[in-house]
Amino acid sequence: MAAPTSSTAEARGGRKRFTVGPDSRPALRPYVRIAHDPVRRRTVLLAPERVLSPDAIAIDVLGRCDGTITVGEIAVQLAAEYAAPADRILPDIVRLLQDLADKGIVSGDAASGLRRASRSTGAASAEERALPPGVPAPIGLLAELTHRCPLQCPYCSNPVELERPTGELDPATWARVFEKARALGVLQLHLSGGEPTARPDLEAILEAAVGAGLYTNLITSGVLMDRARLERLAAIGLDHVQLSIQDSDVANADRIGHYAGGHAKKQRLAADVVDLGLALTINAPVHRQNIDNVGGMIDLAMAYGAGRIEIANVQYYGWAVRNRAALMPSREAVRRSLAVVQTARRDLQGVLTIDYVAPDYYADRPKPCVGGWGRTMLVVTPTGKVLPCHAAASIPQLTFENVRDRPLADIWVDGAAFRAFRGTGWMKEPCRSCDRREIDWGGCRCQAMALAGAADATDPACRLSPDHAALVDLASTESAEPPPAFIYRRYQARPNQRA
Ligand code: SF4
Ligand code: FES
Repeated sequence: MAAPTSSTAEARGGRKRFTVGPDSRPALRPYVRIAHDPVRRRTVLLAPERVLSPDAIAIDVLGRCDGTITVGEIAVQLAAEYAAPADRILPDIVRLLQDLADKGIVSGDAASGLRRASRSTGAASAEERALPPGVPAPIGLLAELTHRCPLQCPYCSNPVELERPTGELDPATWARVFEKARALGVLQLHLSGGEPTARPDLEAILEAAVGAGLYTNLITSGVLMDRARLERLAAIGLDHVQLSIQDSDVANADRIGHYAGGHAKKQRLAADVVDLGLALTINAPVHRQNIDNVGGMIDLAMAYGAGRIEIANVQYYGWAVRNRAALMPSREAVRRSLAVVQTARRDLQGVLTIDYVAPDYYADRPKPCVGGWGRTMLVVTPTGKVLPCHAAASIPQLTFENVRDRPLADIWVDGAAFRAFRGTGWMKEPCRSCDRREIDWGGCRCQAMALAGAADATDPACRLSPDHAALVDLASTESAEPPPAFIYRRYQARPNQRA
């Protein structure tokens, strides 16, 4: 395969960074929402994969950014209200808005800003609950609406045993879950699967999510949805579409997803998403069979008009464990791809946000997986089980409670699966006395289970883990061998599941 390159300069296609000055007329992007967060008692900005908490003056400034007033005029207005010289506060306002422009919150394109009016979201229901010490409020809910999926990706992170459609939660139950989640502190909702658009009642589910005041992210492969359905979802209030791609090389993309014509369908959907004024993120899982096309995938995200690309080295749990040797990149390939990402980040500052998830196998220290167990997010499976992370079912000693049987808040606070690895009390050495224990929270429990055989072991991605050297050896050995054929994932539900 050729070395990874990116023709990012040419791929910009006329998009350029919004440089804020006194004469600029900034507007909040159409998919950014200002929301009240009653649980944390603050005002937040909600955007794709982001929750920002600006101070009161920043909110005041943003409230005036309607695409018609200039930054200089905003400074004059604030100077009068706060009794401060306009020329003193102008540089601060320019700095603030430039930072928010580079984060994709404001733009200088008032016309696009007005296509969909920015919505504020209301307060959560009165059912807010005081959480005991040591139990933070979650920010994100991953709602796995179904495990059905038309693609057959070899790196699928869903459990090996999938849940069957007859047991899937109905829209009324999802509506209850969303209300409870919002009252618990959740702001970002990820509608995922499997393929969430395989649900014919997705519209009703989305309506409930919007009604609950959640920021809505649809995580989709994009091959089942046409323009008419996307228009319906946009009209209901969908904020953001995260579209997965398999490669920039069309034939290889369709081979990896095992879905002929998939790439072309994704391209059409991306154009519709941007046209309808929704936020678009491209999600690009990378591995040894596409890693040298990272530059091409960044170019593709630019050509599609995405505001963000997430380049994520695949992780090995669920179905992906079976394909590890076919997916494991070499350390050198990872290094090359990272160099491409760093150059593109510099070239595309303020135009395309590039998030990069490094591969654990060549890391020194692990990532704080899911932001720490039971700290920031929860997962509800298609049949209603509540999990601390999407791969938690790979830990055999855990049992999961169901939203049909117990209130969501009770499960979050003291469900056995959530208590199992929350905080630091469960840790053994070397984590127990490590000064990073409240930074990475010991890494990933599912990876520790898969690689060290114990969910309470130090994540082998950490160089202080006794299993780290074996992990590096394994990665080096597997990536040096010719890749075996993919074992494709075919949707097959487990029989005798709870209906
Ligand atoms: Fe993180 Fe544990 Fe490694 Fe310390 S020893 S860096 S807490 S995984
Ligand atoms: Fe489960 Fe990391 S995927 S803790």
